[in-house]
Amino acid sequence: MNDPRELFMHELGDILYAERTLVKVLPKLAQEATDSTLRDAFEKHLGETEQHVTNIEKVFEMVGEPVKAEKCPGIDGLKKEHDEFVTNEEPSTDVLDMFLTGAAARTEHYEMAAYTGLITMAKALGETDAANLLAENLKQEKAALETVTTISEKLASKIPASA
Ligand SMILES: [Fe+2]
Ligand SMILES: [Fe+2]
Repeated sequence: MNDPRELFMHELGDILYAERTLVKVLPKLAQEATDSTLRDAFEKHLGETEQHVTNIEKVFEMVGEPVKAEKCPGIDGLKKEHDEFVTNEEPSTDVLDMFLTGAAARTEHYEMAAYTGLITMAKALGETDAANLLAENLKQEKAALETVTTISEKLASKIPASA
């Protein structure tokens, strides 16, 4: 590869794979959560994530390329980390909720990094409409991170102080 535009298409396919994976994972995370605000946050973000997939598919159309996902080992790794923790550590409901806020925060940071890079490249390539649509996804990822951070702080405030 020696064309930055091809890199843009690769990165777009990568985040498409990641978002499609999250559409499958988020209902499971909502089920695992005991805290109702955490469960609601996962359910709300599932709806947003479905929209992220649609927006990415639209971006492919805007730049005149066929929709093509690229396998993203980054998101697969985040998912694996979750699956192994739940299987190996048998967490209590309180610990699992805290773990889930951390897993969610890592995922949002991952997505935010991907969209920030894509927006920079889209602008440089003169794809302004694509940049604007990708910015909508980025905005929701940032809001989701803020929500999960607030929940994480609420859960942490219930940890009894050690003597
Ligand atoms: Fe997303
Ligand atoms: Fe997200």
